[in-house]
Amino acid sequence: MKLTFFGHSAFALEVGGQRILIDPFLTGNPLNTIAADQVQCDYIVVSHGHGDHVGDTVQIAQRTNALVISNHEICQWLQKQGVPRTHDMHLGGSFRFDFGTLKLTIAHHGSVLPDGTYGGNPAGLLFKTAEGNVYHAGDTALFSDMSLIGAAGLRAAILPVGDNYTMGPEDSLAAIRLLQPQLAIPCHYSTFPVIEQDITLWAQQVRQNTSAAPLVMAPGSTVEL
Ligand code: NI
Ligand code: MN
Repeated sequence: MKLTFFGHSAFALEVGGQRILIDPFLTGNPLNTIAADQVQCDYIVVSHGHGDHVGDTVQIAQRTNALVISNHEICQWLQKQGVPRTHDMHLGGSFRFDFGTLKLTIAHHGSVLPDGTYGGNPAGLLFKTAEGNVYHAGDTALFSDMSLIGAAGLRAAILPVGDNYTMGPEDSLAAIRLLQPQLAIPCHYSTFPVIEQDITLWAQQVRQNTSAAPLVMAPGSTVEL
């Protein structure tokens, strides 16, 4: 299982021979290192409707013919934008794809789409695969039900730590204690001044206050999980 970080909340997860793009905000992402017209994928998963998560989904899906997975409302909107292939799901639902199972989990946040269309409820993403389980929290506040998500047994938890729009560093430590992942990977920080964080300090605090190993990924980097 390989994970590539594109800055902000955008990742590519390669598992089971499939390449899954998550929240592909590439154009306009100051930390991004790859052009939207260069990225390759078999699937795109969108956690919620905000522009910094939907990002380049429409253009990438049209070029690659990737299957786009999101909630019902966002999939309907994507179809109207000309996305050829979507798979709609909703909170609590799991479905088995080529890469493994994806479950949409709760997230406490908003989800309006860039043109003002209602985007349903925001989601977290729980990937259960033969090579391990990965949770991408999307944008969310801390919530105690994270312990239920962690019960799946997580190789990695990808958590927003930027504060202001999502949980910040302190709440992320509580999230890690609830989720009990082996690896804690920060995202949604230092993309813009309002979510600037000292990520070295965060990593130190994860080591001191949780049983997880912090994994800070530089934008453009790939790790084997
Ligand atoms: Ni958001
Ligand atoms: Mn966001």
